[in-house]
Amino acid sequence: MKSIEINIQDALSFAQNQFDSNKAQAEEAFGKLENGSGEGNDFLGWLKLPSSVKPELVESIAKTAARLRKNCEYVVCVGIGGSYLGAKAVISALSDSFADFYAPTPGNPKVLYAGQNIGEEYTAELEKLLDGKKFGIIVISKSGTTTEPAIAFRILKELLEKQAGKEAAKDLIVAVTDEKKGALRTLATQEGYETYVIPDNVGGRFSVLTPVGLLPIACAGFDIAKLLEGAAEMEQTAKNPSEENPCEVYARMRNALYQNGKKIEILVNYNPKLHFFAEWWKQLYGESEGKDGKGIFPAAVDFTTDLHSMGQWIQEGERTIFETVLSVKEPAITRRIPEDADNLDGINYLAGKRIDEVNKMAELGTKIAHVDGGVPNMRIDIDKLDEHSLGQLIYFFEKACGISGYMLGVNPFNQPGVEAYKKNMFALLEKPGYEKETEAIKAKL
Ligand code: PA5
Repeated sequence: MKSIEINIQDALSFAQNQFDSNKAQAEEAFGKLENGSGEGNDFLGWLKLPSSVKPELVESIAKTAARLRKNCEYVVCVGIGGSYLGAKAVISALSDSFADFYAPTPGNPKVLYAGQNIGEEYTAELEKLLDGKKFGIIVISKSGTTTEPAIAFRILKELLEKQAGKEAAKDLIVAVTDEKKGALRTLATQEGYETYVIPDNVGGRFSVLTPVGLLPIACAGFDIAKLLEGAAEMEQTAKNPSEENPCEVYARMRNALYQNGKKIEILVNYNPKLHFFAEWWKQLYGESEGKDGKGIFPAAVDFTTDLHSMGQWIQEGERTIFETVLSVKEPAITRRIPEDADNLDGINYLAGKRIDEVNKMAELGTKIAHVDGGVPNMRIDIDKLDEHSLGQLIYFFEKACGISGYMLGVNPFNQPGVEAYKKNMFALLEKPGYEKETEAIKAKL
C-alpha cells in the first residue's frame, strides 16, 4: 500500500540554510530515540507498538467491543487529553459527518464522550440523553486519578446502575488504566469490571494505538487491525534515519522554520472530518514541545471554512507562522455540481465538476497566495480517509514528534506544566493533602 507523502518544496526557500545544516542534529535526535538514550526514555513504548501488538489483545478488544455494540445504544468514552483525543480523532475522521443526527440502530451504538471537560450543562444534558437508554461506559485514565473523568464516571456509573441494575452494569463498564496504580484500578478491581492495561512506557498522548484508542474505535465499528497495519507500515518506512524518511524530513523542516522565526505551525485540513485529528495533533506537539521556554505553538484550521475567518490573519498578519496541510487525495464519495438552466447564481462554469475539484483548486490557490504572502507551506498527502491511512498518519506524527522534540532540546515525553493548574484547582477546592497550598492560594485572592 502507498505511504503518505510529504512535500516541503514550498517551505524550503524560507529556511534553506537552517534545513541544510540541521541534518546531523536530526540524525542525532533520531539515534537518541531509537537507542533510548534521550530524556524521557522510559516512555518509548509507542515506538515499536504497531509491530509488537499481540494478536490476542486485538482479538480481545474486538470481542469486548462486539459485546458493547450488541448491548448498547450508546457507548460513552470517559477520558481527557491523551485518554480521549486519539479515539475521537479517528472516529470522527471515519464517521459520516452527520452520524450524530441519526438514531442508533441495533448493533451500531453511538460513541459519545464525557470527562473531557467539567461542563455542568454538558454533564446534565448527557444524563438527559442517556435517561432510559441502553448504554455502556469505557472509562479511561492512565493515572486513574484525573478529576474530570472521575466526576463524569461517578455520575454515569450511578445512572447506569440505577437503570440496568448493579450486576448488569458490571458487564457494561470497561476500565482502561494502569496495571496496578491509581484509584480507577482499585475501583475496577473491587467492582469486578473488565479492564485493559495502558502500558507503563506509553504516555497519554502517544497511547491511541493501545486499548485507550483501540477499544473506543472498535466500539464505533472501525477496523482496528487495519489501523495497526497502517501504523506498522509507517513504523517500517520510518525505521532508519535518511533524507527520505518522512518523519525526519518533517522534523527537520519545522525546526528549520522555527529557527528562522516561524513560531506557530498551523495544521490545515480541507476535509472537515479531520477537525479532531488536528485536535489530537495539537496535544501531541503542544505537550511534547512546549516547555523550557521553547516550542512551536501548534494551531489548526479547517479550510475553506476558516479562510473566511482566519484567512486574513494568515495572509497578512505577523509573519511568524507556517502551514502544514493535510491533504486527502480522493474523497470516498463522488458528487458533481449540477448544471442549472437559469444560472442565476453564476456558477455554471463549475457544472459537471466534482466538488473535490473545486476544493483542490481552493487548496492550490490558497497555497500560492499564502506562500506569496510569506507563509511557508508543507503538504502531507494521504490517499484516502480510511483506517490504514490514519494508522500511517498517527505513527508518522508520533515519530516525527519524538525526533523534533529532541532536536529542539526538550524532553518530548513529560508534561510538567500540566500539573500547575491541577495544584491550584485542588488547593482552591480544599482537597485533602493540599492544606498548605490552600492557605497559600487563599492569601493571593
Ligand atoms: O498526554 C498526557 O499524558 C495527558 O494529556 C493525559 O492523557 C491526560 O492528562 C489524562 O490523564 P489520565 O489518562 O491519567 O487521566
